[in-house]
Amino acid sequence: MKTREVVIAGNWKMYKTIEEAQSFIYELMAMGTNPTSSIYIAVPFTALSAASTAAKGSSIRVGAQNMHDATEGAYTGEISGKMLLDAGAQFVILGHSERRHLFGETNEFINRKVKAALKLGIRPILCIGETLQEREENKTENVLQNQLESCLSGISENELRKILIAYEPVWAIGTGRTASSEQAEEMHRFCRGLLSSKWGGEAAESISILYGGSVKPENTRALMEQKNIDGVLVGGASLTVDSFNKIINYQPINRY
Ligand code: PGA
Repeated sequence: MKTREVVIAGNWKMYKTIEEAQSFIYELMAMGTNPTSSIYIAVPFTALSAASTAAKGSSIRVGAQNMHDATEGAYTGEISGKMLLDAGAQFVILGHSERRHLFGETNEFINRKVKAALKLGIRPILCIGETLQEREENKTENVLQNQLESCLSGISENELRKILIAYEPVWAIGTGRTASSEQAEEMHRFCRGLLSSKWGGEAAESISILYGGSVKPENTRALMEQKNIDGVLVGGASLTVDSFNKIINYQPINRY
């Protein structure tokens, strides 16, 4: 029997107005969701409050795509975890490759954000993943190890259990080029092994590790059939109710 939480998470990135976010959620709720999976949707900051109100009473969890680690202060343009909570966020994506590569976020900064989110009871989805160049230079495992160890530095076993990890190879994000389910499984197994060596096998076995990068209704099932893939983080295909709903209803099978 499967013991880990199955998570289908959408990352809307910089898409959708308040009204678009609300009607998406109402429509999705009306379709009825797969009760065996947890549904997470990371919306733009501006739609957080309305989206979390719209999702009330449903199993859909609404969250954010980033936050600052300070509670408040002179950080023009930034949003704190306290503000996310105020707007109804239940989780936050941290260390997404677009934040790392377009906005220069470092592992050290991401580590501070992970700690701040945990302190406030906001569930972090920590993203890690190698670039195409790193993969071609056979550095994938080193990169993942470095990202995991640095971003999770100083995290206790109890805290670790509250985190979701998302493995997102940068070369597969928004490119239509998905990692094969075997390639993804290999990296997920590697990450779980790393977690196990640092926090023990029991904690590592309890953590859900999601795959992200060109996930679509057509490839979800093959990914989800892998032993160490516990969910998906979906960008482009989470923007329409139809495709996101198909991913949610990917037909779970008995995995063990
Ligand atoms: P994609 O994005 O599904 O559009 O590749 C995934 C992500 O960035 O989380």
